[in-house]
Formats: sequence, C-alpha cells, structure tokens
Amino acid sequence: MKAKGITLIHGNASSKLAQGISRYLNIPIVDTLVSRFKDGEIRVQIKENIRGSDVFIIQSTNPPADNLLELLLLADAAKRASAKRITAVIPYFGYARQDRKDQPRVPISAKVMADLLQVVGINRVLTLDLHADQIQGFFDIPVDNLFVTPVMKEYFIDLDPSVWTVVAPDVGATKRARAIARKLGNLPLALIDKRRPEPNVAEVLHVIGNVQGRKLLILDDIIDTGNTIQVAADKLKALGALEIKVAAAHALFSDNAVEKLCNAPIDEIVITDSIEHKQTLNMKKLKILSVAPLLAKAIKRIHDEESVSELFI
Ligand code: R5P
Repeated sequence: MKAKGITLIHGNASSKLAQGISRYLNIPIVDTLVSRFKDGEIRVQIKENIRGSDVFIIQSTNPPADNLLELLLLADAAKRASAKRITAVIPYFGYARQDRKDQPRVPISAKVMADLLQVVGINRVLTLDLHADQIQGFFDIPVDNLFVTPVMKEYFIDLDPSVWTVVAPDVGATKRARAIARKLGNLPLALIDKRRPEPNVAEVLHVIGNVQGRKLLILDDIIDTGNTIQVAADKLKALGALEIKVAAAHALFSDNAVEKLCNAPIDEIVITDSIEHKQTLNMKKLKILSVAPLLAKAIKRIHDEESVSELFI
C-alpha cells in the first residue's frame, strides 16, 4: 500500500497519549514493534510502508533512558524506511534541567540530547513547556515549543482575581506564572525565593507578594520529588493562605512524591498527561488534563505547513 500523509508512531513511554492524538486526528497509529531482546536490548520494527510520508514519532524522554533510546531507534528506522520528514513529538523533554555549565566538570545534558536527536535524522521537534526556552538554540533544526497554558487556562478560567493569586515557586517559574496570571484576567502574582542546598532539596527563603487571606495557585513546569511544591505549600499555609491549588505541566512523581503531596496542605493538583505513569496514582486531589488535542492540532498544522503560533494563546 502506498504511504502518504501523516504517519503516527509511538514508543512505550507515550502510548496512551499517542492513542489520544490518533483519535483526535482520526489517523490510525502505524503498526510498530517496540519490544526487547532477551538481554534487554531494544528491538524496533515499523511494520507498514512509510515511504515518502510525514512521520511523527510520539515519545516522552522521562527516565528510564530506554525511552530516549526507543525514540532514537524509531527515528533511525523511519529514516532508513525513506520517510519524507521525521518530527519527534516529545511531550516531556527529559534531561533539560542541566542546560548550562554552572559547576566545574558537569555536562550540558540538554545539548547532548539535542545532538543525539539530530544525529539519527530527526528533522524537527515538537515539544511542550521546555524547562528553559533557550534549549531550542541547542538544535540546528526547527523546534516548536508549545506551552500548556491554553489547557490550564481553560481549566482555571473561573478563578476570581479578587480572591486568587498566582504563585511562582522559584525565580525560573516567574515568566510562566506571569503569563498564566495575565491570561486568567490579571490575577495578582507572588514569588518565592527558593534555594537548593543540594539537588532535589528545596528551601523557601522569602515570599514576595501578598498571600495572607488569599487563595493561591502555584504554577511550576515540573513536579519531580515534590519538594519544591511541598515546601512552598507549607510556607504559604503558614503565612495565612486560605486554599492552595497546584498546576504543573509535567509530573514525574519520583521518590515518595505522591505520599508527600497527599500530606501537604494542598487542595488540588492539576497536571497533564505529558508523562505516562505505569502505576495508578493514588491521589484523590489529582486532576490530569490531556495535551492530546493541543499536540494533535500542532501535528496537523506542521503537516499542512501552517503556522503553529496560533496555538500559543
Ligand atoms: C526547577 O527548576 C523546576 O522548575 C522544578 O521546580 C523542579 O524540577 C521540581 O523538582 P522537585 O519536585 O524535585 O522539587
């Protein structure tokens, strides 16, 4: 059968999200084997003809590193199968947090990721809430970095500015928090001065802005161990916050994050499905929003050579 148009492929890290994208676009996912040899090495085979087609490989690169390797091998398979163009759709771009040489003898991991993706023949990248915008500059191919803002905006649209304040849990989150505060009808903004005495440990030094007697929406890009959010919520509650909601684009929930966040003074945690959790997340206050429609729209626009900037609302 002649292949043409959009081809959707995914690895094991993003199977549910890929199915959501496939449903939205009404395009079936191409039959692909992504399994393991007996020794654990990854075995990949695209089972259908994709010659000349516009291939989108959907795969987040959160740990384990096998997720990244699956993406690289799928891209290599697509290239050798004569795909016309290969776009890596990476809802969560892992290894983004080491994006500069800020200590002696450390790698710039985000640059290594960019190099690996390009060397296997990926022609463009579609991603979501990159930890730092400037990572786009590590690539010599186009990178569309969408934001989860439209998805979050729709969910939080009813927050009343006379009651609610948006909180950035660290300096890095300020731009993102300011953007959503503006889009939610100019909610006031508060900032936390956070310190990291060591990796994965967070301390609140100061809170800038009025939080006493306010309802608060803490906005971050990543929840990893949950330390940042936990110490922020504890501090804000102690300062007189009436209610605390948390919103984050990507939830890794490593270590004992779920337990920690369940016990924190937080009323609701809103995340997206950019990272797929293989185990059930036992958290009553958790709400998961899907980014499948957003990514599907971007895929369609990229394929049709239309601007994706309208998705940055
Ligand atoms: C840091 O710069 C990020 O924006 C997040 O705040 C951080 O990755 C969250 O990590 P954790 O949940 O382990 O505190």
